[in-house]
Amino acid sequence: MKTSSEKPGLFAASFAAVARAIASAVGLVRTHPWLSATSVVGFCAVIAVCTLALTLERPPLHVVQTGFRGTGMQAVFNDHDLLAEARLQHADAPLPAVQLAGRPASEVYKNVKVLGAVDANEFLRLMAAMTQWVAPATGCAFCHSLNNMADDSSYNKIVARRMLQMTADINRDWKAHVGEGGVTCQTCHRGETIPSGAWFVQPAPYGTRGLTEADSGQNIVSPVAGLTSLPYDPLTPFLLQANPIRVTPTSALPSGGVRPSINQTDWTYALMIHFSDSLGVNCTFCHNTRAFEEWDQSTPHRVTAWHGISMVRAINRTYMNSLVGVFPRAMRGPLGDEAKVSCDSCHAGAYKPFFGASTLSAYPALSQVSQDWTPPAAPGGAAP
Ligand code: HEC
Ligand code: HEC
Ligand code: HEC
Ligand code: HEC
Repeated sequence: MKTSSEKPGLFAASFAAVARAIASAVGLVRTHPWLSATSVVGFCAVIAVCTLALTLERPPLHVVQTGFRGTGMQAVFNDHDLLAEARLQHADAPLPAVQLAGRPASEVYKNVKVLGAVDANEFLRLMAAMTQWVAPATGCAFCHSLNNMADDSSYNKIVARRMLQMTADINRDWKAHVGEGGVTCQTCHRGETIPSGAWFVQPAPYGTRGLTEADSGQNIVSPVAGLTSLPYDPLTPFLLQANPIRVTPTSALPSGGVRPSINQTDWTYALMIHFSDSLGVNCTFCHNTRAFEEWDQSTPHRVTAWHGISMVRAINRTYMNSLVGVFPRAMRGPLGDEAKVSCDSCHAGAYKPFFGASTLSAYPALSQVSQDWTPPAAPGGAAP
């Protein structure tokens, strides 16, 4: 709100500044005969060229065709951006294989609830990998009290146990989205304890009152919607709740699954900007923009994305939500809810996480996770 009311002022100020500069240039040429009109024009030309050079995108650009010829369905990539991106999209080489112990972890360790069936040596190799993926800075102590590895008092250990179940579930049940390559902890965490794109339900920013009370969740610059004034929290209705995303009626009196209104279209567009941002692509990666709703004119990527929407809802409702009592207050959102996953959590700006590279097959333990454990309402000993 503040920004939009400031805009006209800013515009007037810059207009006045330009007018003053022109007036003083004209004045200068009159009073200083040695300053020719040509040199002033030349100076302005240099400024104009510099401005253009800084504003336009630096070549080379690459255009990848994503639909039929002539439909303008193209993704534009800039080599410099891709190079910068490549550093973030780098999957660690798998840790060296270990000699199997021949005994499951459940026989060797005291308190294994989900990895009991894993070979004891493979178990430790996974611990080392998890440390590298999630908490390289803190090490084992991020989840363990080092004098008793069986102790469960760190909430991070409880969260990690649930994350193991979640990762196994994604790889087993959501192949329609993640393919055979699947995901590891690194797909989301990438060396950080909090993955990119983790989000909370957003409260209305400032109490709108009286006539302006219904702000429809918009008219505030929203980072998740690409710094537009579209609704500032499109993730709650679509990636947590299962509200219909479609807005284009296919019959005269639409019902069920379609919510045709300008207001609803704003919400859908805000979500779509999140998709595009998260994947580093434009709308034509998935749609033929002459008819957003038509599936037979869309690319196969849109079908993958459709499965992705259901997957993210399931992750958030089944796994993230079960941790609400485990996360301490300081790790929860302004309304006391747990952190949630978005498209950006795995994609981090690329059309495929790690541009399609996968190390899942090097960690067979990630597919041997037991689902027979549910997180407690609050971690043992830790204050909620
Ligand atoms: C991201 C959290 C996390 C990190 C980091 C981590 N662990 Fe673990 N660790 C766990 C979880 C979760 C379990 C319990 C697994 C289960 O219940 O099946 C566990 C269990 C163990 C156990 C079994 C203890 C017992 O007797 O029950 C050992 C040993 C262990 N970890 C070693 C390590 C070592 C060594 C490191 C550092 C290289 C490490 N862990 C880093 C989460 C972590
Ligand atoms: C689909 C994405 C995703 C995957 C895959 C994933 N995580 Fe997470 N993880 C999250 C999100 C989101 C959070 C919540 C971050 C926050 O608290 O803001 C989180 C939080 C955590 C935390 C608590 C961090 C803190 O400071 O509160 C631990 C520990 C953790 N994950 C371990 C793991 C381990 C171990 C794996 C692999 C077995 C894994 N995660 C896989 C998304 C993921
Ligand atoms: C990664 C793929 C992807 C990208 C990129 C994407 N969309 Fe979508 N879009 C979808 C999917 C999937 C649906 C359908 C969701 C459903 O049916 O529940 C959809 C639905 C829509 C709809 C509603 C269609 C209807 O049936 O009423 C509109 C409008 C739309 N997108 C606009 C956009 C715009 C504008 C952009 C660019 C800012 C964009 N999309 C980018 C995947 C994508
Ligand atoms: C749990 C991690 C994860 C999350 C969350 C996730 N994706 Fe994906 N996505 C993947 C993986 C892994 C692939 C690669 C699959 C493959 O190689 O076949 C992928 C592939 C895709 C593709 C196909 C790209 C191509 O070039 O074929 C699209 C489109 C896509 N995701 C959209 C989305 C959207 C939209 C969301 C949010 C609603 C989302 N994804 C959330 C992991 C994820």
